[in-house]
Amino acid sequence: VTIDKVSVIGATGDEGFGLASRWAKAGIEVVIGSRDEGRGKDAAEKLKSLVPNAQATGMENTAAAAASDLVVVTVPYGGQAAIYKSIADHLSEGAVVVDCTVPVAAAVGGKPTSVLGVWEGSAGQQAAAILPKTASLVAAFHSLAAVALNDLDYTFDSDVLVCGPKKAKPQVKELVEAIPNLRYVDAGPLSNARIVEPITALLIGINHRYDTDRSGIKITGIEGGP
Ligand SMILES: NC(=O)c1ccc[n+]([C@@H]2O[C@H](COP(=O)([O-])OP(=O)(O)OC[C@H]3O[C@@H](n4cnc5c(N)ncnc54)[C@H](OP(=O)(O)O)[C@@H]3O)[C@@H](O)[C@H]2O)c1
Repeated sequence: VTIDKVSVIGATGDEGFGLASRWAKAGIEVVIGSRDEGRGKDAAEKLKSLVPNAQATGMENTAAAAASDLVVVTVPYGGQAAIYKSIADHLSEGAVVVDCTVPVAAAVGGKPTSVLGVWEGSAGQQAAAILPKTASLVAAFHSLAAVALNDLDYTFDSDVLVCGPKKAKPQVKELVEAIPNLRYVDAGPLSNARIVEPITALLIGINHRYDTDRSGIKITGIEGGP
């Protein structure tokens, strides 16, 4: 892995904490962003107690956004736009920002098994519309269950569908491959996030029917590579 540092905005919550833990385990320095600096620092201490030799610090979101050229955002859809507005002016020039938001209807009191229509087409596109044009927005990691990410001994057997600009994808591929046995799949431009994000709502329903907490997705027939 050539990535040395990643900031995860919202890693005080389950999805971001799981991703941050996995990346720390792979030797990547992680910065945990929170709306509250103290909460970020507490999460960083917790991460260090769970992952031997982890390099982790906690910061308020704007400082976390400025601290790395690679920033992952794991916040609920209801808070997504406000978080992007708050970090937009603090990102480094040319930052790669990875959005994991799923616009589940539960964000407005509906079901977690259905998604909301987003004016821009997807939560990822909404995020891109808020960020400066110099930032590259990539949508990824929606189909990884937080429970499985946080079970550090669990080995995935699934794919991560990645949508966004070509130039930003190599870094996101490295983030995917830093987690053992996950496969990166180039899912095309950011506009395809409108197809990828709702798959998580489908998986939540599959989890219920199959009495599991970690169903995932795998694309077949692409073993030869692109
Ligand atoms: N959980 C999963 O299995 C899973 C799987 C795939 C995708 N996702 C997606 O990943 C994102 C994060 O999921 P999660 O389960 O980790 O969510 P979560 O625990 O509810 O929230 C993550 C963090 O977001 C921050 N946040 C910022 N604005 C917020 C607001 N308005 N309301 C509440 N929290 C806010 C909070 O951190 P501070 O209070 O410290 O700022 C919170 O700890 C969501 O978009 C979700 O759809 C989740």
